[in-house]
Formats: sequence, structure tokens, C-alpha cells
Amino acid sequence: MSNVEVHWHDHAVSREEREKLNGNKGCVVWFTGLSACGKSTIANIVDHKLNKLGKHSFVLDGDNVRHGLNANGAMLREVHGEEFAKRFGLGFSAQDREENIRRIGAVAKLFAEAGVIALTAFISPYRADRDLVRKNLAPGDFVEIFVDTPIEICEQRDPKGLYKKARAGELKGFTGIDDPYEVPERPELVLDGGKKTAEELAEQVIACLKEKGKV
Ligand SMILES: Nc1ncnc2c1ncn2[C@@H]1O[C@H](COP(=O)(O)OP(=O)(O)OP(=O)(O)O)[C@@H](O)[C@H]1O
Ligand SMILES: [Mg+2]
Repeated sequence: MSNVEVHWHDHAVSREEREKLNGNKGCVVWFTGLSACGKSTIANIVDHKLNKLGKHSFVLDGDNVRHGLNANGAMLREVHGEEFAKRFGLGFSAQDREENIRRIGAVAKLFAEAGVIALTAFISPYRADRDLVRKNLAPGDFVEIFVDTPIEICEQRDPKGLYKKARAGELKGFTGIDDPYEVPERPELVLDGGKKTAEELAEQVIACLKEKGKV
């Protein structure tokens, strides 16, 4: 135990009261899958559909997380200096990926407790990291969605040119090429990302959330 004790302060407003006001349950909808499998595209369509249904949701994605909460060394160096950047900047090593997911999981949990549907869109390739997020949430709060798109299709899409760079050896430790992707063992939903449109897949997610009584 550290010399600084952290005490959990009770909320004056209960989660149930927040959810009643919001008109939906809070939860974490965790999209996982290879780069370019469709996580961001589907998460954003689901977000839009939920918004139109009057439900409270928010997408946590690479852009809004990697620029702030999980900024990399280069981003931190400019303002805070080398030493700080080395300690707190996150890259793509196994340990940094683990910390990246741990922080996202912790933030997503706060969203769920605020009665919001957090939609996260990260490759999150390691099973143990995802399972830890699940374990830290209340039962039923973690909805793991495996976007199962064959790597050949992801590589064909390659909108950021990352597969090309990885194949050329310019990018090391790229998931699916020279770093593993560990398929979820018991996801709440598997989406066939190679055959259906993103719109159809988003409808499947909405149906899953309805079935679970989240919306
Ligand atoms: N079901 C789909 N059918 C056809 N194309 C799709 C589908 N889903 C996504 N795409 C397209 O595939 C590309 C990659 O999608 P997207 O950016 O959502 O992937 P991602 O899983 O978020 O990848 P990353 O992990 O690199 O952020 C985009 O150009 C998108 O338009
Ligand atoms: Mg994405």
C-alpha cells in the first residue's frame, strides 16, 4: 500500500437515478479486431443510431484518446520535456499496449457508471488485456464485439497504408503481420466484417443492445 491512501467517495446520485434520467443503461461496448476490420466505422454508425433513438452514447477511439489521455512520447515531449515524455508517453510495445487498454477501460467504466453507452474502437489484440477490462466492470456491463474480418480483406482496404508499411518492414510489431491478434473466446457478438455492410453490422449491434436491455 502506498503512503497515500485513496478513499472511494460515495456518489450523491446513484447510477440508477442517472440511468433513469438518461433513458438508457450504461455499458461498455468493446469493439475488437484487426486494423481496418471496421471498428471505427461501425462504432460511429451505432453512435449515430443511438443518438437518433434518444440514447446517450460516446465513441472512444484512437484519435480522441491517443491525443490526450494516452498521448505518445513525441506529443508530450514538446510541452513537458524529454524526461516526462519517457515516463508517461505510450507507444506500441506490449507493455504500452497493455497500459493503453487499461486506461481506456478505466475511462469507459466511468462512462458506464454515468449511464452512458461507451463505444470503444481499439484493436486491443491481447485477450488478457480485454479480460481485465471485463473483470473490472459490473457483470453484464462489458459487451465484447469481435469484428471478424479476414486479414486479406483488411489488407486490401488498408486506408492508412499501414499493412503496406508493415509488409515492407517499415512498421514493426503490426497486429496480424508480426504481432499476434488473439481472437476473443466468448464475445457477446461476432460480426462478419467481410461480407456485410457496416450499416447492417451496426443494426446487429443495436439488436444485441436491445436484447440485453441496454436501450
Ligand atoms: N463492413 C464493411 N464493408 C466494407 N468496407 C468497410 C466495412 N467496414 C469498414 N469498411 C471500410 O474499411 C476501412 C477501415 O475501416 P475502419 O477505419 O472502421 O477500421 P478500424 O477497424 O477502425 O481500423 P483501425 O484499427 O486501423 O482504426 C474504411 O475505409 C471503411 O470505410
Ligand atoms: Mg479505427
